[in-house]
Amino acid sequence: MPRRVLHDRFFKQAKAEGYLARSAYKLIEIDDRKRLLRKGDRVLDLGCAPGSWLQVAGERVGPSGAVIGIDLQAVTHPMPAHIRHAVMDAFTADPGVLTGEAGGMFDVVLSDMAPNTTGAGDHFRSYHLCRRVIELLPGLLRIGGNLAMKVFEGEKYPELLRHVGRRFREVKGFKPRACRDVSSEIYVIGHGYTGEPVSAGPGGQTTS
Ligand SMILES: C[S@@+](CC[C@H](N)C(=O)[O-])C[C@H]1O[C@@H](n2cnc3c(N)ncnc32)[C@H](O)[C@@H]1O
Repeated sequence: MPRRVLHDRFFKQAKAEGYLARSAYKLIEIDDRKRLLRKGDRVLDLGCAPGSWLQVAGERVGPSGAVIGIDLQAVTHPMPAHIRHAVMDAFTADPGVLTGEAGGMFDVVLSDMAPNTTGAGDHFRSYHLCRRVIELLPGLLRIGGNLAMKVFEGEKYPELLRHVGRRFREVKGFKPRACRDVSSEIYVIGHGYTGEPVSAGPGGQTTS
């Protein structure tokens, strides 16, 4: 089994370039390759601490945009005025409060949320976090908006792709190079939110 290298090149690069965590390079690569963020966008960052995705998203949307982050942990690093954050649990977060803070529905929802890893059941807890993100989308994301969401790969991954696929014009899994070799994490990228799928009605199968 490969040894986990703690101070790898991304860690060193993050320190040199002033990012709060090496995960900054995951979002940089995701956005360079998948084109999620635009100048002036409103972005929600779920699981934002310590704050490197806030930094990257803040740079990409610029001061005419807004980045709102929530996490169970506080972000302690000072941020520019268009980046705001709060200690909040995604399971109790109120979409109306978040869109109110941003001044409207979000153009992009990011989730780098991860459960505390215990070695057992991590995939299921990660899947559960992703289902919560999907549940929140109707109150958060504008039609046509984009999503990038982390999940630990496992048996529910194909089901997750199907759930996202029903709500976006296009869905793909993407593993940035900054993901550690030993990590099972992958990002589900959705382009073009279409809203909640319409159910088949009484007696029919719902498509959610
Ligand atoms: C990998 S870290 C995020 C790193 C961040 N993207 C960055 O670049 O600085 C995952 C975060 O998810 C948060 N998290 C886990 N469960 C959460 C929940 N239910 N609500 C909000 N945040 C959660 C954790 O507290 C943790 O800070």
